[in-house]
Amino acid sequence: MARRYSADVYGAEKSEIIAFKQGFHGRTFFTVTVGGQEAYSDGFGPKPGDITHLPYNDVEALRQHVSSRTCAIMMEPLQGEGGIIEPSEEFIQAVREVCHQHNALLIFDEVQTGNGRTGHFYAYQGLGITPDILSTAKSLGGGFPIGAMLTTTKLAEHLKVGTHGSTYGGNPLACAVAEAVVDVVSQPETLAGVAEREALFRQGLAKINDKYPIFSEIRGKGLLLGAALNEQWQGRARDVLVAAGEQGLMVLVAGPNVVRFTPSLVISHQDIAQGLEKLEKAIASLVQ
Ligand SMILES: Cc1ncc(COP(=O)(O)O)c(C=O)c1O
Repeated sequence: MARRYSADVYGAEKSEIIAFKQGFHGRTFFTVTVGGQEAYSDGFGPKPGDITHLPYNDVEALRQHVSSRTCAIMMEPLQGEGGIIEPSEEFIQAVREVCHQHNALLIFDEVQTGNGRTGHFYAYQGLGITPDILSTAKSLGGGFPIGAMLTTTKLAEHLKVGTHGSTYGGNPLACAVAEAVVDVVSQPETLAGVAEREALFRQGLAKINDKYPIFSEIRGKGLLLGAALNEQWQGRARDVLVAAGEQGLMVLVAGPNVVRFTPSLVISHQDIAQGLEKLEKAIASLVQ
């Protein structure tokens, strides 16, 4: 969409896409290449070109690199797979500002952060800026496969029916499911419940860490939380995942040093308490 818009309005020269190291944007060949981890994009032949990866949260690097050739900046408003990395306020403001300055489009990948995950319906709503294009999927369908791209009316004119498409695009069943999900998740009570549950997780994780100090910090937002392992436990996130599994608890990792928690947005308080108990047992088994 961004490439098409830039080509139409400014010419083919304006095609550079800036993205960020450790970013993850999915597994089509284009999106693995825009993602900032070569492990996902190597080995499939020549890659789509004119994509630059800069360090996340580095305002200086961004200002130095961006130019009139930049077509779009693509980022996660909170890096998920890359380790639950939040953007600094300065970085977010700078990204929006340089996009305006250079007529580049700002694309937020909200596939992981969207649909209530951070306690806002979309994460950008908690950041004080608005992207030009937003991608959303995963929880949009509550488990049913659907992805969607949101943009402004002005930009949408450059991607008309026939310009691009896919066999299952606009599938009526998937759209009906997503509408039902959006109706429930966008309720103020659902969103407020996310912040309430975040507090329970943070308290519980701090308590475990007092007893068995293995985390250096708990980061993230809403119910997209990462417990970063301290110096002594570097590289052992997967061990925690396996030990948790042995207790009947499913957790995730975000890289080798972060244990990730992304429970249901309506998980019961009782399930949180029980899960934290199991996690404590798992960590105890590793420490001992
Ligand atoms: C930010 C982000 N974008 C995209 C995706 C998924 O994309 P795909 O379904 O192409 O693998 C993920 C999955 O984890 C994600 O976290």
